[in-house]
Order: sequence, then structure tokens, then C-alpha cells
Amino acid sequence: TKQAEALNHALARFSGEPGGLLPLLHAVQHALGFIPRAAVPLIADAFKLSRAEVHGVISYYPHLREQPHGQTLIQICRAESCQSRGSDALLAHAEVALGCKVHETTADGCVTLEPVYCLGLCAQSPALMVNEVEAHAHLTPVKLDALLQDLK
Ligand code: FES
Repeated sequence: TKQAEALNHALARFSGEPGGLLPLLHAVQHALGFIPRAAVPLIADAFKLSRAEVHGVISYYPHLREQPHGQTLIQICRAESCQSRGSDALLAHAEVALGCKVHETTADGCVTLEPVYCLGLCAQSPALMVNEVEAHAHLTPVKLDALLQDLK
């Protein structure tokens, strides 16, 4: 399967390397869009860690996820500059508008909402990213609503 292939490839490349766990997790997520739960025991074995430790690392990093994201991934920046310009309120606004919490996907599988920590657009904050490629800056609740409306 694609999952097994991606995992084997990443394991062959990074297991046994000191500091290889994070690059491996990134490689798997890059290949599959998420880190499958079934991969965790194999990754734990390769690094002589417990499953809980591997889960701990995955949940520590907000951009690593254990489920595939919805059709559209919306990442709202919560780093300093965006936060000082109201990104927390925007995130709360998005949660209400979408009817799902941060780190969750809407019931119809349409949108996943995630935090992100700096998109390199601080001068134009607050900012968000759609599907990891499409940046939106100088956000306001009105702009956010228009964006979410377009996704429906
Ligand atoms: Fe949000 Fe840098 S702090 S883009």
C-alpha cells in the first residue's frame, strides 16, 4: 500500500539516526498528508521508544497530524505578530462559522482547522494559509467569512 511504502521509505532513510525521529515524521506526513496510527508502533520500534513517546512527539508539534485533513486545510497563524493583531479572535470566529474546533474537521469532511506558528507574513498579519499553498493576509472577520463562504 501507499502507506506502507511511504513508511518503509522513511524508515530506511532515518531510523537509527540520532535526531532522525522528527525528519522521519515529517517525511511520512509529507508523503501521506498525515501519520497513520498504524505506523506509530513501527516507528517506536525503530527508535527504541514507547508508542506513548512517539504519540507525545506527534502531538507536541501542531503541524503533525494523525488523521488526514479534510478537503481544505485552513491554518490560522497564532504566532506573535498575528496574535497581537487579533488572530485568536479570528480563530474563534472560524470555529463558530465552521462548527468545528481547532485541530478538527467539519462533519462533512470539507474543512480542517489548524493553528500554525508563523507563515513568514508577519508584516501583513494576521494571516492564514489554505492547503499549505495559498496565503491570505491582512485578515478581518469579513474576509474570513468570504473565504469560508467560497469553500461551501
Ligand atoms: Fe503570523 Fe508571522 S506571526 S505570519
